[in-house]
Amino acid sequence: MLVILRKTYEDLSREAARLVADRLRRKPNLVLGLATGSTPLGLYKALIEKHKKEGLDFSKVTTFNLDEYIGLPPSHDQSYRYFMRESFFKHVNLDPRYTHVPDGMAHDVEAQCEWYEQRIREVGGIDLQILGIGANGHLAFNEPGSSLGSRTRIKTLTERTVRDNARFFANADEVPRYAITMGIGTIMEARELLILASGEGKANAVKAAVEGPITATCPASICQMHRRAYFIIDEAARSKLTEVPIEEVTGREYAAPGFQSLWLGERSEPGEERRAHPHRG
Ligand code: PGA
Repeated sequence: MLVILRKTYEDLSREAARLVADRLRRKPNLVLGLATGSTPLGLYKALIEKHKKEGLDFSKVTTFNLDEYIGLPPSHDQSYRYFMRESFFKHVNLDPRYTHVPDGMAHDVEAQCEWYEQRIREVGGIDLQILGIGANGHLAFNEPGSSLGSRTRIKTLTERTVRDNARFFANADEVPRYAITMGIGTIMEARELLILASGEGKANAVKAAVEGPITATCPASICQMHRRAYFIIDEAARSKLTEVPIEEVTGREYAAPGFQSLWLGERSEPGEERRAHPHRG
């Protein structure tokens, strides 16, 4: 696990875009896991800019979104399919056939969930999964108490999440109570995780995820078990951290010899351990 601190939300977004662009240049047919919410918007904006100014090419990329509300059609402006189309898909040269968002209108939700898992397997698994973190520590819609081994399935949203998301709807009654979400087990199979957190409202969740015990009460804490999980956070989201080695938190090691090989280096073969920075878990 590596925690990278950036001063502001804009810096954090730029840093995240740098990592995504690097992985994409190395593997043009990257399988990219995507997230919705306010946090990744800056990343999407920075990627769109890279596409327009630097020709960053998404034509061979396959994407899988983490989740979708049950009962919202793709035309609903709060559906995650709509969100992705408006904030990212339509601005880059992604092939719409290669973009996957769970179908919240599926008649057979269970079959939809199985199909989603199968599609991920068929393309060889997710290379890089972008993640936000809920103020309650959730990952995608895996709310506190979710099984840490869970697969794509239907979940009931907690009151807290409904409240957090009510800002996007005319009133809280309109917020769907159910969603299809990739499971924590599904997310953990991605080869790399990139978790973004910005603002004071996320400081407690970041502390629990990074420094707390691994527990289903804070699903994001499972990232501690992942060999290549990168948290990119801003000053405000970092404000409650006390234990993480300062080198990691300040990102001073970022430019140090050895760091670039982890950040930008070729993927090691399965089973081959990278030589890590002494502070890096
Ligand atoms: P946010 O949501 O980016 O809108 O804060 C993150 C999440 O709930 O996972």
